Amino acid sequence: MNSQFAADVDAGLSKSSKTLPSKYFYDKKGDELFMQIMALPEYYLTRAELEIFTEQTPLLIDALGMNKSQHFELIEMGAGDGSKTKFLLKGLLDQGYDFDYLPIDISGNVLEHLVETLQPELLSLSIKAQQGDYFEILKTLKDSHAPKVVLFLGSNIGNQSDEQAAAFMYSLGENLAPGDRVVLGADLIKPVDVVLPAYNDSQGVTKAFNLNLLTRINRELSGDFDVSQFEHAPEYTEEEGIAKSFIQSKVDQTVTIGAIGQTYSFKAGEKVHVEISRKYNKKVLAGILKDTDFNLVNTLKDSKAYYGDFILERSASES
Ligand SMILES: C[S@@+](CC[C@H](N)C(=O)[O-])C[C@H]1O[C@@H](n2cnc3c(N)ncnc32)[C@H](O)[C@@H]1O
Repeated sequence: MNSQFAADVDAGLSKSSKTLPSKYFYDKKGDELFMQIMALPEYYLTRAELEIFTEQTPLLIDALGMNKSQHFELIEMGAGDGSKTKFLLKGLLDQGYDFDYLPIDISGNVLEHLVETLQPELLSLSIKAQQGDYFEILKTLKDSHAPKVVLFLGSNIGNQSDEQAAAFMYSLGENLAPGDRVVLGADLIKPVDVVLPAYNDSQGVTKAFNLNLLTRINRELSGDFDVSQFEHAPEYTEEEGIAKSFIQSKVDQTVTIGAIGQTYSFKAGEKVHVEISRKYNKKVLAGILKDTDFNLVNTLKDSKAYYGDFILERSASES
């Protein structure tokens, strides 16, 4: 993991427009900070999706299109703390569905926390947690022939560019069978005064979350980032529909990363791009699905229409 981390950091910081990969946000501290972000007043995303999962549970269960008499797998990519999924799981158990829940997450901490909190609440739930990168794990989905529902919630898809999201959805479709479904949670395009505060909260938790990536590099890769000399700088316009997070250097400085054996220069005001949060509408969705065999069968939205859970069905391949 560390050699991959080092290679990814080196690749990103060696570009003319520097980047750092957002998947490394989630160490123990990052997991804790993300849980705090989800509870922030400005961070409407989690509450909006939670409202769908709590207020529209029967509709959501119907939309999954599963048959009560047939065993299926409910796979969650990037499960996090599972706090929204819990309501769906409970609803499925109450209605007598026969299924295994397979949460996948890159963070072992988060998965441990998920199992420890979920299992005592839902004693009859069969949980098969798997730690790893969902880009890799999705290639193994075909190993089982059970019908499948894949949850990809929390606007996780929005952390990928449209090209990456299209490739991801294509790969997901390739590894599912006709009739399998996907619940794709996505934040919807809306004005800047709603979106930007979600990435720039007044308590500075999002800032701490982003800058923690530098602390992680210092600890795990023997870096010497002076974190106080970097700023959190998010951007968003409704026209583009993409929230972007940058770590910005406050001064001209150099940073050495021991595990890579390299020194990197930063100019005052230079930005390191760390994450995008793509917002969706039907057109953006159609764009990323155009080369796949997925059909949109339903869309569930919260009461403010801030957020959508798109229900997709894998149709029979035309080739
Ligand atoms: C934005 S959180 C969303 C969590 C949850 N799905 C929700 O809706 O609240 C993203 C989660 O995905 C996990 N994650 C990020 N990149 C991943 C990857 N490539 N493979 C597996 N898990 C990943 C993180 O550890 C984190 O728990």
